Amino acid sequence: MTTEPTTGFLWGASTAPHQVEGNNLNSDWWVYEQRMPHFGPSGDAVDSYHRYEEDMRLLAEAGLTAYRFGIEWARVEPLPGAFSLAEIAHYRRMIDTALSLGLAPVVTLHHFSSPRWFIEEGGWLGDTAIDRFTAYVERVCDFLDGVEWVCTINEPNMFAFMMLMAASINTDAAPPMDTPTVQPENGFVLPLPTPEATQRLIEAHHAARAIVRERTGAAVGWTVANLALYATDPAFESRLKEERWTREDVFLDAARGDDFIGVQAYSTQGVDDGGLVPNPPSPDNTLVGTPYRPDALGIAIRHTWDVTGGLPILVTENGIATADDARRIAYTTEALTHLLTAVDDGIDVRGYLHWSALDNFEWGHWEPTFGLIAVDRTTFARTPKPSLSWLGGIARRGRL
Ligand code: NOJ
Repeated sequence: MTTEPTTGFLWGASTAPHQVEGNNLNSDWWVYEQRMPHFGPSGDAVDSYHRYEEDMRLLAEAGLTAYRFGIEWARVEPLPGAFSLAEIAHYRRMIDTALSLGLAPVVTLHHFSSPRWFIEEGGWLGDTAIDRFTAYVERVCDFLDGVEWVCTINEPNMFAFMMLMAASINTDAAPPMDTPTVQPENGFVLPLPTPEATQRLIEAHHAARAIVRERTGAAVGWTVANLALYATDPAFESRLKEERWTREDVFLDAARGDDFIGVQAYSTQGVDDGGLVPNPPSPDNTLVGTPYRPDALGIAIRHTWDVTGGLPILVTENGIATADDARRIAYTTEALTHLLTAVDDGIDVRGYLHWSALDNFEWGHWEPTFGLIAVDRTTFARTPKPSLSWLGGIARRGRL
């Protein structure tokens, strides 16, 4: 492998606020978790709300140069129209800490969780959705000085399913579904995103993009879950196109005109004439039930490049849920080989952010561990895994 990425290539790791901070009491997810009997609630999560400096320092000392984290809307705007100056100061300190450690902050504005009041009021499909979201985005843009990368909405194509959970918010009922990020053993296949959800999220993204552009100097984009779908037989090619469009490409297409696109890839899934084929159980599967497919990243990068018409790519998530860190290194080595081959082929990839910096709350589940750093959830002690220094070494050398 001869490739050396261009100077300034970001090497980093990612998290999301609800998955690491802890006690996100005012968010809709906090409500869902308490009502799902089989969910492990997020609770204190890994207390990164208080320990973010230690987390960032571990990444920086290992050699990484970027940290993707999110701003939690439910904290910044605890009641409609009421913004918390203390929480704004908190997130500003996070940005300053990242900058002072030499980590480029990659900031996500919405990562699956919304304020509880927003969902109770009607949520993403309600009449106030765009006004509420843009008011929040405007307020956040006031304190993003020094941030060069902003992601508006994380994985709208997965979030479209989580929106279905909102149906239960004004009742005492459990949400009608589990998280879409962990595949149940019965092989359940995710429903198609509804046209209403898709259009609303695209509208929200475009509105946020305009605000970020007007008020900050940051590059703005959104991050899409790349499913690396394939036809299980050539006869199913037309069905594959349809599934791809509705589940993925409509969101990639909506990124045209953005400054970059966030690629998030983990595995692949087959399509036949009935739609997505449930992934068969296998001892080789990852801890979220998906096949071990490190080549998914290369497939995702190439597909995204084609559909977006050559938008610069930032890999904002790629990783593996495994308890075996040597397997994480093997998976990531292969994934990076595919990334670098794509760079060799002329695709403009600006960075690689591993999911995740820390073992964390996988949307109702604690068992799938994606982290470069393990956390003891009673003492909150951090233990870097060998994969952290391994990835940091690549970052320092700028090559595999
Ligand atoms: C996608 C999501 O953005 C993130 O929140 C999740 O934990 C990872 N992928 C792993 O499933």
